[in-house]
Amino acid sequence: MKRSAHSLLLAVLFLGSSAFAQPAVVQPGSADDLKAAYATAQDVADGKRVAQSSCVGCHGLNGISTAKGVPHLAGQRAAYLHLELRNYKAGVRGNEAMGAAVKFLSDDSLFKASAYYASLDPVSGAGEGAKSAPAKPDPVQAGKAAAAGCAGCHGETGVSAMPGTPSLVGLDPKYLAAAMKAYKGGQRKSDIMKPMAAAVTDADVGNITLYYALQKATRAQTPAAGDKAAGKAAAAACAGCHGEQGVSATPATPSLAGQDAQYLVAALGAYKNGGRGDETMKGLASSLDDAAMKNLAAYYASLQPQSPNVRKPLATAEWAERCDRCHGINGNSTDPRLPALAGQREDYLQAVLQAYRTGKRKSPAMAAMSDVLTDADIDNLAAYYSRQKARAVVYVTLPAK
Ligand code: HEC
Ligand code: HEC
Ligand code: HEC
Ligand code: HEC
Repeated sequence: MKRSAHSLLLAVLFLGSSAFAQPAVVQPGSADDLKAAYATAQDVADGKRVAQSSCVGCHGLNGISTAKGVPHLAGQRAAYLHLELRNYKAGVRGNEAMGAAVKFLSDDSLFKASAYYASLDPVSGAGEGAKSAPAKPDPVQAGKAAAAGCAGCHGETGVSAMPGTPSLVGLDPKYLAAAMKAYKGGQRKSDIMKPMAAAVTDADVGNITLYYALQKATRAQTPAAGDKAAGKAAAAACAGCHGEQGVSATPATPSLAGQDAQYLVAALGAYKNGGRGDETMKGLASSLDDAAMKNLAAYYASLQPQSPNVRKPLATAEWAERCDRCHGINGNSTDPRLPALAGQREDYLQAVLQAYRTGKRKSPAMAAMSDVLTDADIDNLAAYYSRQKARAVVYVTLPAK
């Protein structure tokens, strides 16, 4: 029987869940795309034979993987499986093991193997584990916790109340991280900060600098001795790099607005006498005497600092909401062309998301998503989806209208 692309409608039924018993109607792009979704019982039986001869070694006859890096196939959406098999065969999705497995198989065999694995019950047992997903702490919360030891000097929210100690608000995370690295490596000399920086892990530096960047930018609560008006006139020479209002446009150059005045004077002195190595700043600071430094410091300290352009990262639940728009509720796709994520192996999900991010696996839909995911997001999403309950679907072909 021939079906035209236009008359084909599919209804989707979730098995064993009344909450999902609403039939979902799918508009196919082309009949061939969806071929595997309306396979017959005979196709499934033929597919089992293909699986037995070519796939069991890695995917098992039950489609439930026991090996790292090998995905579960049981209950995966049929049209998606077929599409991926064709991608492996065409070399569009590069993988040695899979390339070799499908090399000599006809499209008919691939279609039937897809129908077979899609017809199986998905991995059971996942689902309840979702509650115990080892969600890594929110980076901002983790940053706050890690910054507890810094608060005594830099202020709880990074606004200094201690003359000589810089505020950490209003500064780009990249600049703060570079400063921490310089203290640790000794390029920037400070007997106080060297041990502090050495005790913080790279991951915590990332979290701490993010935490400070998201705090309200407020002027340091410290006095400034110099002449602001004189400082303002002299600051014309600095505006090109540090910004007209002391707010820098690039992470490599620190903002100066609202910074503690005594620290600014000390930093300029350090550039002048070589305690801090930076050729540009050394040249500029060398021409300044103590009074000029104090005046510049007083001027910059009086300006209003601005929060750097950093957005709070999305929590895993907020990401998942976006992923579910395509991958279905809790990763249970209702579109036969889109993969289910629920119950999939955690290590596989992780590897695949990394592959999209590096461009090793190509998909326009996924590239837009995965470009902006951090390593922590990927780990958390893989943990989250691997613990969702996987639901099988049945696609029922509706008569054409
Ligand atoms: C030698 C081991 C091996 C054999 C044999 C094998 N596979 Fe795979 N399969 C893998 C690995 C490893 C991956 C993951 C590759 C990747 O990351 O792209 C995979 C991935 C897949 C995928 C992609 C799943 C997804 O969620 O995107 C499908 C579909 C698949 N295999 C089907 C089959 C079928 C059907 C057969 C038999 C015709 C088969 N495989 C034989 C190892 C194997
Ligand atoms: C005992 C007081 C003290 C503690 C605790 C402390 N700092 Fe500092 N910090 C300072 C002082 C003083 C300076 C200025 C050093 C200099 O002159 O280079 C400084 C400088 C910095 C700078 C450079 C800022 C800039 O504008 O270039 C950063 C970044 C920084 N600290 C981060 C931290 C972090 C993160 C912690 C906690 C892990 C911490 N500090 C703990 C006193 C402290
Ligand atoms: C050509 C660009 C440029 C100009 C012009 C410039 N700076 Fe800088 N400034 C920098 C860079 C880059 C750094 C960061 C250097 C480092 O990593 O130590 C810096 C750092 C500083 C710091 C240390 C801030 C901190 O938080 O630790 C102070 C203070 C400073 N500049 C003041 C000035 C003043 C005052 C002038 C004008 C007299 C000036 N700068 C002109 C590029 C410039
Ligand atoms: C606009 C729709 C869309 C959104 C939103 C989306 N995806 Fe996808 N996703 C796809 C498509 C289409 C594919 C199949 C692409 C291919 O052929 O490689 C896919 C594939 C995947 C795969 C590979 C599955 C497998 O079995 O190999 C994973 C994992 C995945 N997506 C995770 C996510 C996560 C996590 C998010 C949210 C951060 C997300 N997706 C958001 C459309 C989307």
